[in-house]
Amino acid sequence: MPHTLTRRTLLAAAGTLALAPRRTARAAQPLVLTPGQTEGPFYPVTLPADADGDLVRVQGAAARALGTVTHVTGRVLDRQGRPVPGAAVEIWQCDANGVYRHPRAPDQARFDSGFQGYGRTAVDSGGGYAFRTIRPVPYPGRTPHIHVAVIVPGTGRFVTQMYVEGEPLNARDGLLNGIRDPAARRSVIVPLRPTPAEPGALAGTFDIVLDL
Ligand SMILES: [Fe+2]
Repeated sequence: MPHTLTRRTLLAAAGTLALAPRRTARAAQPLVLTPGQTEGPFYPVTLPADADGDLVRVQGAAARALGTVTHVTGRVLDRQGRPVPGAAVEIWQCDANGVYRHPRAPDQARFDSGFQGYGRTAVDSGGGYAFRTIRPVPYPGRTPHIHVAVIVPGTGRFVTQMYVEGEPLNARDGLLNGIRDPAARRSVIVPLRPTPAEPGALAGTFDIVLDL
């Protein structure tokens, strides 16, 4: 019995020691605040009837959206890394042919009726959100991106854009490179990789850290 106690005490001590440096490192490296970005000209004037978190399926549409299905998930956090309760996340983007659903956007007649173009979801208790959308594509003057807004009750609306790692046009995109701080710029560039969740689909994680 004394042997067991000693061993247990040692294990407990080892656990404490192992945790201590991690705590210190965390305190020394605050989270990178997600940089804000312009909303751009194509936030929807009217929200689609179907405005849920699955942009690939539109209620009543015969076909699903064109493009590569992409799961975008993440968490809305404050600067301490705590979930932001009650937040809602919106995304909007152009369809697989580079057309926005917006009366002033070019080529409205060509907009993919199987693509929702916009979606909104509330975060869960851990600050998590999830969208099923398409991999963003380039359009004249812009590298692929997804517009993102976070609404926090009592605080306001935060707007940014999410980019895709490895896109050749990233190097020349004025808005992306307008984020001068390299860590802040990296924080909005997300790797998209195949996911076991859905055959042929991609997935990426975009955590949004607010100045709260
Ligand atoms: Fe855009």
